Amino acid sequence: MNKQKIVVLSGAGISAESGISTFRDSDGLWENYDVQEVASIDGWYKNPDLMTRFYNERRAELEHKQPNEAHRLVAALEEHFKVTVVTQNIDDLHERAGSHHIIHLHGEATKACSENGKRFVQDIGYRPIANDEKAQDGARLRPFIVWFGEAVPLMDEAVREIETADIVIIVGTSLNVYPAAGLLYYAPSDAQIYVIDPKEVQPISRHVHFIKEKATVGMRQLYDQLVK
Ligand code: APR
Repeated sequence: MNKQKIVVLSGAGISAESGISTFRDSDGLWENYDVQEVASIDGWYKNPDLMTRFYNERRAELEHKQPNEAHRLVAALEEHFKVTVVTQNIDDLHERAGSHHIIHLHGEATKACSENGKRFVQDIGYRPIANDEKAQDGARLRPFIVWFGEAVPLMDEAVREIETADIVIIVGTSLNVYPAAGLLYYAPSDAQIYVIDPKEVQPISRHVHFIKEKATVGMRQLYDQLVK
């Protein structure tokens, strides 16, 4: 029998229990930083050194974080379902938990690229980018992140995945940021949609099963329900 297809749409909340800050909670990253300064393409052209440092810090932090039970359960779903993870997170915790098909809509902390057209993408692991470092084309090396004001190149691929989903699991995202937040509306009308979050998320104008729990607890409940 063909396996059913699950698309997991994850956000910062799935990594919260691994000790990574979310963006919009009261103790979130954007409480302490000006989004325009550290997460927009304008910010990059105004002060690339500051942004290089900001992402160097995020990357260094990430090296010492571990995937949590929610990441592991997402990976474990692969034994029973065809699973695609569409994540807004730049961390690599889904990879380290063992998921195989991951679309990073907003880029990856462990990669860098040329500031000229975001070409020449390279793996840099957890090391810092130096301010004078160049990509292969001689342009400045920048974090491989999708900043506010930039296109989301993997959006089409994410839409194609969700259009063929039987089950959609939305976990740990406030659904504030488009186009990612609109993805769930591409799910087939008969797809089962589950939302796991300890808080109410943005109003969703589709029928969803809401599991008001932290990611680890909510994923365990849902995993047990789906893998009966
Ligand atoms: N388990 C599950 N969800 C949690 C947990 C937890 N332990 N802790 C917090 N959350 C929820 C919050 O209630 C909130 O709904 O995670 C969500 C986090 O929302 P945001 O901080 O807005 O993060 P996210 O939705 O991933 O942000 C989207 O915005 O700043 C940009 O590019 C950045 O990818 C990011 C995008």
